[in-house]
Amino acid sequence: MVGLGPKPPPSRKGTGLAEAPKDLVNEIKRLEELFTVGTAKLKEITDHFVHELARGLSVEGGSIPMNPTWVMSRPSGYETGSFLALDMGGTNLRVCQVTLTEQKSEFDIIQSKYRIPEELKTGDAEELWEYIADCLLQFIETHHGDVSKIEKLPLGFTFSYPATQNYIDEGVLQRWTKGFDIAGVEGRNVVPMFEAALAARGVPCKLAALINDTTGTLIASAYTDPKMKIGCIFGTGCNAAYFEDCGSIPRLAHLNLPPDTPMAINCEWGAFDNEGKVLPRTPYDVTIDSDSPRPGQQAFEKMIAGLYLGEIFRLVMVDLHKKPGVRLFAGQDASKLFKPYSLDSSFLSAIEEDPFENLSETLDLFQTKLNITPTLPELELIRRTAELIGTRAARLSACGVAAISKKKGYTSCHVGADGSVFNKYPHFKARGAQALREILDWPDKKNPKDEDPIEILAAEDGSGVGAALIAALTLERVRAGNMHGILHPENFK
Ligand code: BGC
Repeated sequence: MVGLGPKPPPSRKGTGLAEAPKDLVNEIKRLEELFTVGTAKLKEITDHFVHELARGLSVEGGSIPMNPTWVMSRPSGYETGSFLALDMGGTNLRVCQVTLTEQKSEFDIIQSKYRIPEELKTGDAEELWEYIADCLLQFIETHHGDVSKIEKLPLGFTFSYPATQNYIDEGVLQRWTKGFDIAGVEGRNVVPMFEAALAARGVPCKLAALINDTTGTLIASAYTDPKMKIGCIFGTGCNAAYFEDCGSIPRLAHLNLPPDTPMAINCEWGAFDNEGKVLPRTPYDVTIDSDSPRPGQQAFEKMIAGLYLGEIFRLVMVDLHKKPGVRLFAGQDASKLFKPYSLDSSFLSAIEEDPFENLSETLDLFQTKLNITPTLPELELIRRTAELIGTRAARLSACGVAAISKKKGYTSCHVGADGSVFNKYPHFKARGAQALREILDWPDKKNPKDEDPIEILAAEDGSGVGAALIAALTLERVRAGNMHGILHPENFK
C-alpha cells in the first residue's frame, strides 16, 4: 500500500523485561520439530489412510465411517427445477432457493444467511430445530408471500455431521462434531425431528434429500466440471466425499447392487487415526482433544480444521507464557489469552498476512485483541508459530486427497474444495499443492502456470447448488422407479 510505511518496531524499554530469562530461539526450534511434517511422514500417513479408507468400507468397519450417501449418479448438467436448500454448517445457517435452468450447467440462486447462536450449539435439541424452522419460514415468507397458499417446495437439507443413511431422506447422527453438543440427537434420525418443527410452524416444504456438505460440493462441482472426482471441505470442520463403485463396498454387498454402479461416499475423514497410529500429534493436540466435548474423536480434523487452528496457537502461547526460562509476554497481563477458543483461525490468517518486516499488524492485533504488547523477538515467534500450524494443516490435508486418489487410481483429476480455511487462509492452497507433489512424487513443473496432475480448485456452492442437484437427482430416480436407498418406506406412499 502506497504511503503506509511500517510502524516503528515495538519497544518495551523501561519495563526491565529485556533481561527476563528466555530462549526464544530454542523454543522456535522445538516448535519447528513438533509441527513440521516431512515428506516421508506425509507418505506414511497417506499409505495408512488408503488402508483405512478400505477398512471403513468393510463389513467390520474402521475409524473412518465411509458413509454411503445414496447419491448414485453424477449430474448431467441438464437437471432442471426449483428447490430449497438448507445448510446447517458449523457456524452459519443458510437458506437458498436454487433454480436449475434449461441452460446446461446454469442456475439462479437467492439466499439468506443466519448466524447459529453460540448457545444453540450446546443447548436443547428442540430449540435448534425451532430456530432452523423459523429461519426457513422467514425465508419463504420473504420470497413467496403467504405460506398458506404455497404448494410444498422440495428441500435439500445439508446436515454436515456424520450420519448413517439407509435412505437418502434419513440421517441417524453418529456423533456431533465441530464443537456441537446437543443432548438427545446422537443415535437418532434427525429428519423426523426437523419435520416436526416444520409441521408445527406450517413451513411449506418437503425434505427430498439429506446430504453432507462434501457430497454437495462433489456434485455441484461435477455439474460444471466433468474432471471433478473429489469434493472437500476445509472449513470449521474438514472432510471429503468421492464416488466409489458399489462392488467395492463390502458393507453393501447384501443389497446386490450392480458392482459398477457409483455411490457417493461421505468419508468423514476427520475421524482418521482416532487410534493414534500415525498422526504426529503434539502435546497441544492432546490437550485440544481431551478438553473437547468428544475426546478420542475426530483426531485428523482436530489438527486441520478452522475451529481448532486458533486454539492450537493459543495453547502454544499459554504454554510459553507459563514456561520457566521462556516466560513469553513476561510481566504483562495475559489473562485474555487464557480464554479457550477465544482466537479463531482468522486471527492466525491475519498474523500470516502481516506484510511488514517488523510485524506491526501482528503487534496491533495482540494489543487490541489480547491487551498484550509483544517484543520483536516475541512477534517473530508468534509469526513462526502461525506459519507452522497453518502449514501443518495444509500438508496433512493433502494426505487425505492423495489417499483417495491412490485408492481410486486417479493420476489426473480435479478436486473441488470449499470452506473458510481453503478460501481464506493464506497459502493454504499452495502449501497443500506442494505436499501433494511430494507425496505423489510429481516432477517439478516446467512452467509455473501448468496445472498439477491432481489440482485442488475452488468448488461450486455445494450446500446450495449441490443440495438442489441432489434433490433433483433423487426426484428423477423416484420418477424412473429406481428406488434403492431412496425414501424411507414410510415416505414411499
Ligand atoms: C463433519 C463432516 C463435515 C465436515 C465439514 C465435520 O466435522 O463431521 O460431516 O463434512 O465437518 O463441514
